[in-house]
Amino acid sequence: MWQSVLFINQCIFAPMSFLEEIARRRTFGIISHPDAGKTTLTEKLLLFGGAIQEAGAVKSNKIKKTATSDFMEIERQRGISVATSVLAFLYKNKKINILDTPGHKDFAEDTFRTLTAVDSVIVVIDVAKGVEEQTEKLVSVCRMRNIPIIVFINKLDREGKDAFDLLDEVEQKLGLTTVPLSFPIGMGYDFQGIYNLWNNNVRLFDEESKTTISDSSIIENLDDAALENNIGSTAKATLEEELELVREVYPSFDQSAYLKGQQHPVFFGSALNNFGVQELLDCFVDIAPPPLPKTSEERTIAPDENSFSGFVFKIHANMDPKHRDRLAFIKIVSGTFTRNVPYLHVRHNKKLKFSSPNAFFADKKEIVDVSYPGDIVGLHDTGNFKIGDTLTSGERIHFRGIPSFSPEHFRYINNADPMKAKQLNKGIDQLMDEGVAQLFTLELNGRKIVGTVGALQFDVIQYRLEHEYGASCTYENLNVHKACWVEVKENGEIDFAGFKQTKSKFLAKDKQGQLVFLADSAFTLQMTQSKYPGINFHATSEF
Ligand code: G4P
Repeated sequence: MWQSVLFINQCIFAPMSFLEEIARRRTFGIISHPDAGKTTLTEKLLLFGGAIQEAGAVKSNKIKKTATSDFMEIERQRGISVATSVLAFLYKNKKINILDTPGHKDFAEDTFRTLTAVDSVIVVIDVAKGVEEQTEKLVSVCRMRNIPIIVFINKLDREGKDAFDLLDEVEQKLGLTTVPLSFPIGMGYDFQGIYNLWNNNVRLFDEESKTTISDSSIIENLDDAALENNIGSTAKATLEEELELVREVYPSFDQSAYLKGQQHPVFFGSALNNFGVQELLDCFVDIAPPPLPKTSEERTIAPDENSFSGFVFKIHANMDPKHRDRLAFIKIVSGTFTRNVPYLHVRHNKKLKFSSPNAFFADKKEIVDVSYPGDIVGLHDTGNFKIGDTLTSGERIHFRGIPSFSPEHFRYINNADPMKAKQLNKGIDQLMDEGVAQLFTLELNGRKIVGTVGALQFDVIQYRLEHEYGASCTYENLNVHKACWVEVKENGEIDFAGFKQTKSKFLAKDKQGQLVFLADSAFTLQMTQSKYPGINFHATSEF
């Protein structure tokens, strides 16, 4: 499959210049609350790209489906999720890279990190449930970074909320400025089709087989008698009224506002029925941004610079416990990444070359010779990389934008086997580099504290320490409400000295050596903040 697509690619399209390669890439993520339809939509997009032949071919990262305590299932799923980490396909001569984001809320931090590597996102919302908690969190991260967002309202084949009410909800709860680019004709049992405001035509829903993928008919004009014949005069009149309202109430689409994260196109459809997906995809390839420049601590790097640069946004441990090698996922920011060429690992200040970089296509990975900005390469790693590392042709730059967020759960981690202290430390170190959890070391006594987003990770860590590193650990409960990164304001030295003295028991260093205050309650945090105004307490490690 991979080879035939490559072959087609080479035959039909003349060799492309570096700039053309960049311009045709669309690297994005699909985010949603679990069960809204992210996996189904991903699969349907791949079908359109011809990357898979039938629905059901993508083995999704269905961690969310398992009971929350079933971490063995998660171990099994980890193997699958390597394959679905990046799903790439060609559509209308665009190279589309979909970066997978885990649905399970315990892995939200993984999703936040993946969002540093996307150039845009599609948010999937369930028409019946509306905006849900996880969607709110993820969209707020996208908005902080002005990532262009398209909204897909899914499951129109089911009864749900009124379309206008939903648009209101999206505006209010997510703070988005919605611009409907498609609009549903009916819903649930009465769902008849979709008006495409991008191309100004109607696609009729196939009444006969609501559960199969069908090439449903398109009516180019609202005045076409076929429309009324198909949907009836009442539905047609309602559609006309609603379209008038849409045009009156919502701004017209402005691509530059969308690209700046100021306007948010909305599509309606049913991923399961493959309906409204093509409208979404056709518009997406037209409007979504190609790879964007990225700021580093030193300067902004443009994708069309000749020198290669990229950063690690995800590390995936391999399933085979005998080979502790991992796959580091690099997003290429500029230049080309070429197999067997030495590149500078900036943090280690050493050159590394890679003989088998993986590229991703559909749900497979293959060794690739050259990759371009926007692409993701997977590099085999024996422990050199950690999340956020920069790789370049030689320039010493550091990409920013992979902050840590305060974990939700905290426990002391103890060594349960004194003979295996070295293994334990190595294991903890590497798992933290992978981003499985965060490690804090208490200033007072050097005790180690593990912080996680979900309680599930404690089981995962214990299991992996045992099976991959031969070490065993126990946990001890600890009452921490939030980890806050400490910043001393200008002239805040006196406050800082007082704070350090009274709160010494609650001060720790994170893995980068940054000072963190482990506040035991929201009240303590508030009191401490008002007592020491010379200090800023931050919810993330980058401020
Ligand atoms: P997620 O990745 O966002 O968690 O959602 P996923 O695609 O797994 O979809 C969750 C459930 O919603 C699935 O049903 C899926 O079939 C269903 N679904 C997705 N899109 C639509 C749609 O347009 N209409 C309707 N009616 N259902 C939709 P499931 O029963 O949980 O799983 P499965 O057994 O079908 O895989």
